Amino acid sequence: MREAMKAREASYSPYSRFAVGAALLGASGRIYHGCNVENASFGLTCCAERTAAFKAVSEGEQEFLAVAVTARTGHGAPPCGACRQVLAEFSPSMWVYWRDTRGRVLKKRLAALLPDLFDFMDHGRKRS
Ligand code: THU
Repeated sequence: MREAMKAREASYSPYSRFAVGAALLGASGRIYHGCNVENASFGLTCCAERTAAFKAVSEGEQEFLAVAVTARTGHGAPPCGACRQVLAEFSPSMWVYWRDTRGRVLKKRLAALLPDLFDFMDHGRKRS
């Protein structure tokens, strides 16, 4: 969560003024920072979690152990559905940590946050 707070500092969110930071822990031990990157064409905005995931994959890391997400004080920051699906592509049983509205850190397995996920390729393959 400390790393997620650092990642949040780079947020580009002039439209919503809602900065989000994510820190993604890869199986290698490396941590990837992500922030939300908004766009004048609102739908092109990328969430902090997906920014971190795409960074990790583009650096050769495809197995994730955990992600931590934080927004501003007083706001919960559980990952949105799109980000859950993107993270689940790589590590459906990874841990997801986020803050609730009271600032407490909650954690759940991604598979619990996204049951019965859409999996196109490999129902049988064991993934972390
Ligand atoms: N946002 C994230 O970065 N992560 C989420 O899981 C939900 C929403 C961002 C997108 C947008 O820039 C802002 O928060 C307001 O929705």
